Amino acid sequence: MNIQGKTALVTGASRGIGRAIALELAHQGAGCLILVARNHQRLDEVAAEIAAMGVRAITLPLDLTDIPAVRIAAAQVWQRDGPIHLLVNCAGVAHQSPFLKARLPQVQQEIALNLMGTYTITHLLARRMARRREGRIINVSSLMGKVAAPTMATYSATKFALVGFTHALRGELADYNIQVTALLPSLTETDMAHNLERFRWVIPTSPAAVARVLVASLDKESAEILVGWQSHLAVLCSRIAPGILERIIRATAPKAQALRFSSVGASQI
Ligand SMILES: NC(=O)c1ccc[n+]([C@@H]2O[C@H](COP(=O)([O-])OP(=O)(O)OC[C@H]3O[C@@H](n4cnc5c(N)ncnc54)[C@H](OP(=O)(O)O)[C@@H]3O)[C@@H](O)[C@H]2O)c1
Repeated sequence: MNIQGKTALVTGASRGIGRAIALELAHQGAGCLILVARNHQRLDEVAAEIAAMGVRAITLPLDLTDIPAVRIAAAQVWQRDGPIHLLVNCAGVAHQSPFLKARLPQVQQEIALNLMGTYTITHLLARRMARRREGRIINVSSLMGKVAAPTMATYSATKFALVGFTHALRGELADYNIQVTALLPSLTETDMAHNLERFRWVIPTSPAAVARVLVASLDKESAEILVGWQSHLAVLCSRIAPGILERIIRATAPKAQALRFSSVGASQI
């Protein structure tokens, strides 16, 4: 896809990887950026950075887990600022916890945003793209959508689901000239990563580097975009030597063993 002059809607655009993708799209010549997240002030700041590049930026403050609000906002923004050529589903949340100590509200939040939030806005915009027989959709999954990680069970499950969702949509939406791709970043220096207990030996990358890889890959038709050599190595290893990879992941994962079975309480699953 040639992004020149096109309109892109980026979720999770208030900070982290989504913000970097929005800025990179503007830098590479997008005509209009529609920025989605909950925090008005941060969205305004990103919009101001984009406007300073001479690119139109529209903020759309929205909680993507509020399905009725997403329906209304999607219809209004398409009517007012559409057509939208590119949808980047980047909003996501990660709660790290030993599985046996998992808390139901956090599990539900991960599923509600990473999966149902992505599903809802994609459904609403893809139907409109299909009518025009033109569109590009990027689902930001994770390396944890290919290589599951201890202490990240629900997050991994949602990110694996996004890869499956992407592959299924590719088959269906190709008939409408809509290309769908999963972006699989590895550890990236954002607020999300700062709140996680790190896996040893994993070298973090920057949000700007992830954004550059994505935008440079937009004209390719690949189903998945991996970011960084560690991701390529991990995915290769998962194919040819899954047992070895499993042992490496166990050795490098944060110590969930610190969990005490007796402390699993009524407020937890
Ligand atoms: N950082 C990593 O190491 C890493 C690695 C692989 C994949 N990823 C994926 O990359 C994506 C972006 O992650 P990040 O690291 O940039 O995270 P981040 O810095 O925590 O940013 C998350 C973004 O999602 C938005 N968001 C959160 N809840 C929302 C909701 N209910 N409705 C609408 N927007 C919401 C946040 O904005 P508001 O708070 O303003 O709503 C923010 O813009 C996620 O899908 C994540 O799973 C991250």
